Amino acid sequence: MLRYFLLSVAFSNAALAAYAFDPLQHLAGITPYFEPSDQPLDPSPPQGCNVTRAAYLVRHAAIYANDFDYEEYIEPFVLKLANTSVDWAKAGVLSFLATWKSPITDAEQEQLTKVGQLEAFTLGVDIGQRYPEFKSPNKIWTSTAERTEKSARSFIEGSVEDSNKTQLISVSEGEKEGADSLTPYESCPAYSSSAGSKQAEVFQKIYTSPIIERFHALASTFNFTPDDIVGMQELCGYETVIRGSSPFCSLSVFTPNEWLGFEYTNDIQYHYNTGYGNPISGVIGYPWLNATAGLLASGNINGSDSQQIYVSFTHRELPPTVLVAMGLFNNSAFSGGNDINATMPTDTPNYRRAWKSSHIIPFLTNIAIERMACDSYGFDVGGYYRVLVNQSPQLLPGCSDGPGESCSTDGFKKFVSDRGALFGGFGEKCGTDYGNSTDVLWIYGS
Ligand SMILES: *[C@@H]1O[C@H](CO)[C@@H](O)[C@H](O)[C@H]1NC(C)=O
Ligand SMILES: *[C@@H]1O[C@H](CO)[C@@H](O)[C@H](O)[C@H]1NC(C)=O
Ligand SMILES: *[C@@H]1O[C@H](CO)[C@@H](O)[C@H](O)[C@H]1NC(C)=O
Ligand SMILES: *[C@@H]1O[C@H](CO)[C@@H](O)[C@H](O)[C@H]1NC(C)=O
Ligand SMILES: *[C@@H]1O[C@H](CO)[C@@H](O)[C@H](O)[C@H]1NC(C)=O
Ligand SMILES: *[C@@H]1O[C@H](CO)[C@@H](O)[C@H](O)[C@H]1NC(C)=O
Ligand SMILES: *[C@@H]1O[C@H](CO)[C@@H](O)[C@H](O)[C@H]1NC(C)=O
Ligand SMILES: *[C@@H]1O[C@H](CO)[C@@H](O)[C@H](O)[C@H]1NC(C)=O
Repeated sequence: MLRYFLLSVAFSNAALAAYAFDPLQHLAGITPYFEPSDQPLDPSPPQGCNVTRAAYLVRHAAIYANDFDYEEYIEPFVLKLANTSVDWAKAGVLSFLATWKSPITDAEQEQLTKVGQLEAFTLGVDIGQRYPEFKSPNKIWTSTAERTEKSARSFIEGSVEDSNKTQLISVSEGEKEGADSLTPYESCPAYSSSAGSKQAEVFQKIYTSPIIERFHALASTFNFTPDDIVGMQELCGYETVIRGSSPFCSLSVFTPNEWLGFEYTNDIQYHYNTGYGNPISGVIGYPWLNATAGLLASGNINGSDSQQIYVSFTHRELPPTVLVAMGLFNNSAFSGGNDINATMPTDTPNYRRAWKSSHIIPFLTNIAIERMACDSYGFDVGGYYRVLVNQSPQLLPGCSDGPGESCSTDGFKKFVSDRGALFGGFGEKCGTDYGNSTDVLWIYGS
């Protein structure tokens, strides 16, 4: 009897597994690079398949601070801190503020951090190892900002033997490029960089309110605002990629649920900004999909071409729009309905959402399309396509008829053309107001 009792005690203890939570995986656009296995499929090529060509769209690696985050949230908080008479030493979990100094200066703001350079280099090594048979690329593309160029350079150093044999092609970030750039949202008058702020603010107020009251009890004269809370949580991410760690990440400063509140607030913003809640998102993302499909389809299936891998560096706005263009991370998928905005309520988090910015746009986020040659049991011999986001294979809606749920060559062609029917017409839908716009991304050559 006693043994039974002890056994059941042991069991119930085992059932209560320790709860673990890492805020660094919930920081939306400030999330340091990680590969969340969303979805949990095996990234290696399916049985009987070899990758013969691949294209990657990559966001730049970790920077000191995005100018909007800095000016809107971080700098005001830091200035307020410098000017307060609060005795932080007596402020409990916030006592570290007595000696804390900001890791960011105006001058460094948009620069790549050392950790960012290291991570871009590592991604280069990883991708080089993923395709050991590929020739080193002759060209890599990048938008012209310093942080994207530097990320691309570090990536090249990591991925090839002789980095000066790979040419870095700089692509203008101008506002009159039509779809022909790696920053097409800049050339799209229908896109507004502030879209989503209004909706995100609703939930920001809700999740920060108990935090503000708790901090008020520790330092009543500071008058914490919702924006101060966001600034502090953003500092967790930025300080970590600058100094290696940050006191703001402590779970005694912000609880796991409060980090999830920060993440959800950002997810609402990105939903309405570059996600399914903005009708222009897919239009902005489609030209990269269309051009890449063309690139991968051309050339020899046996991989004898001069260039087999096409890598392009951009900013955070483009990758999520490409996901929308492909119908990935769609909260409405398999729901039988398409009331997309209802999937992102502003008064309570939808924890079952597919649209998680921490998974979609961490620093160095990457979307890959692979073309494969397959001779696999149960499938026709031939070419197949597969999409991976941060290494995790994704199923294209309506096209998963190949090995490992990849998409057949004919299926992929139809898929790209069907998505074009939905999201083609960049100039018209963006309302471009300059005469020389184009609906096609030409940078890879025609
Ligand atoms: C510093 O505090 C003083 C007094 O509260 C206030 O008048 C001033 O505007 C503050 N300066 C900044 C930069 O916040
Ligand atoms: C590339 O760099 C190596 C070593 O720095 C140098 O010897 C070589 O001449 C360079 N090649 C070109 C084409 O610049
Ligand atoms: C349109 O013209 C402007 C110069 O007036 C140029 O900067 C831009 O690259 C052109 N756009 C395209 C798509 O050729
Ligand atoms: C979602 O909301 C945005 C912003 O109000 C609106 O532009 C868009 O049309 C809505 N989407 C749908 C499918 O109702
Ligand atoms: C690859 O295919 C091309 C065209 O089909 C052919 O000319 C070439 O010999 C092939 N190369 C190899 C290594 O099989
Ligand atoms: C998202 O999924 C719904 C339900 O399958 C579908 O009706 C809708 O077209 C999808 N949205 C996009 C942009 O692919
Ligand atoms: C994949 O590559 C291996 C090794 O080069 C080769 O033996 C095999 O035939 C290739 N499979 C296909 C379907 O091309
Ligand atoms: C896709 O790109 C091709 C050029 O490669 C172009 O002819 C076609 O119009 C594009 N499709 C759409 C819908 O923009």
